[in-house]
Amino acid sequence: MLHFMEGEVIRCIKERRSIRNYLDKELPKEIIEEIIEAGRYAPSAENKQPWRFIVITDRAYINELSERVKKQVRNILKRKCKWKKKYPELNERETFLFLNAVASSSRDVIFHDAPAVVFIITENKAFYDESCACAAQNMMLAAWSLGIGSCWIGFAKFLEMDKEAMKMLGVPHGYHIAACLTLGYPAKVPKAPMRNPIAGIMKWI
Ligand SMILES: Cc1cc2nc3c(=O)[nH]c(=O)nc-3n(C[C@H](O)[C@H](O)[C@H](O)COP(=O)(O)O)c2cc1C
Repeated sequence: MLHFMEGEVIRCIKERRSIRNYLDKELPKEIIEEIIEAGRYAPSAENKQPWRFIVITDRAYINELSERVKKQVRNILKRKCKWKKKYPELNERETFLFLNAVASSSRDVIFHDAPAVVFIITENKAFYDESCACAAQNMMLAAWSLGIGSCWIGFAKFLEMDKEAMKMLGVPHGYHIAACLTLGYPAKVPKAPMRNPIAGIMKWI
């Protein structure tokens, strides 16, 4: 029995995909709560459980956040020199072109028109971000096991530079965005992106 359960989890880990195409269908509140419940059970340093969850299901609101992220990306591109130290990738032509395309798109290329977005916020203390990442992964796996797609949205981090957006979201003083996930019923499941072979990334001692 135990082996069967282990097999299920490993299959879920390997089959989960980042979903960027969602059906235009509302996610029931209970399902979102069940996904967050899986996050609540994640390991955390000293069992501090440093996460707070902000759930948004209002599409107009999500769109506004998307536009605000793009505005921040535009600011970074405009003042590329200032940001080169923090984001050395800006020196790479490919990254620059990608960010340019994101910033100038009229579509929701940030949250992929998802019906729900969950921000995981935390304080700037030792291992709080790592603990929140564990919660985020638990949530993505739990979602997948329930037939729900998700995607970690690193771009959402740019909202930290937008004080008004942070206030709008109700992020308390001293907190920052540890993770942001989209949730929704998958319309399209992409092929698995290639994983690097184990031989090149592991050594035994
Ligand atoms: C920290 C982090 C940030 C990410 N940011 C984004 C993002 O902003 N937009 C996006 O579409 N995908 C984002 N992703 C998803 C990755 O692109 C995806 O996990 C990777 O390509 C592997 O695909 P898979 O999740 O389907 O296995 C992010 C993933 C992680 C872990």
